[in-house]
Amino acid sequence: MARSGRSSRFLIGGSTCCWVLLGLICLALADSAQVKERSPTILAGDTIQAVERLFNQVLYSTIEDARQRLPALPANETIDRQYFEELDLVAGNEDYYSTAFYIFAWINSDLMYHKTPDKLLVEVLPGEKIAIRRFFAKVKPHLTKYLRLSRQDRAELVSNVTQLATETEDGLITTFLEFPQNLKSQLPELQLMDYTKLAQALVQGVASGIWTKA
Ligand SMILES: *[C@@H]1O[C@H](CO)[C@@H](O)[C@H](O)[C@H]1NC(C)=O
Ligand SMILES: *[C@@H]1O[C@H](CO)[C@@H](O)[C@H](O)[C@H]1NC(C)=O
Repeated sequence: MARSGRSSRFLIGGSTCCWVLLGLICLALADSAQVKERSPTILAGDTIQAVERLFNQVLYSTIEDARQRLPALPANETIDRQYFEELDLVAGNEDYYSTAFYIFAWINSDLMYHKTPDKLLVEVLPGEKIAIRRFFAKVKPHLTKYLRLSRQDRAELVSNVTQLATETEDGLITTFLEFPQNLKSQLPELQLMDYTKLAQALVQGVASGIWTKA
């Protein structure tokens, strides 16, 4: 009897405590929901994170695909291994994706210069295009949600992204590379990470002969 009395007192005490806690949690949640709804910065930040994650997935899969195919290709047709070594040096640091972005552009440079593509590009290209179409398909709901919540109308941007999710032409590669810049010009608050930062350093390296073989 005494025991059950104590435990029911405890229960009453405990449940009061629970209600207070629950109330506080509700208040906090309501508060953060309000902040989330009101703050364009948080909304933009969430969208940027999602788009960046998806963009980087494409870079990562292309690089890994190219890296795996590299040893099987004849030496005269391989891209410079030094680029992959450079990527390994920056693995885990903030320059990783800007270097990957540059290597992606480099793998596809024949295409962009309208030259006959080398063997690596021929092998990597189909997979790349699939990954990019998937990117545009996955990015679309994030962008439409962002546009709806921030009450903006960008019908042309959404329609372009929709179309790109089924695009098969080689121009898809360039569109993907230009996407961070294009998004920034359409929606300046959605500026993705600066992929070109280290790329510029590497281009300067090429210009000054650091990366070219003697
Ligand atoms: C690479 O080597 C192969 C076979 O030795 C040759 O047929 C091909 O023309 C070479 N490619 C280049 C770009 O030199
Ligand atoms: C949509 O695509 C067209 C054709 O590629 C391009 O000219 C236009 O700038 C794009 N618009 C947006 C908002 O991305």
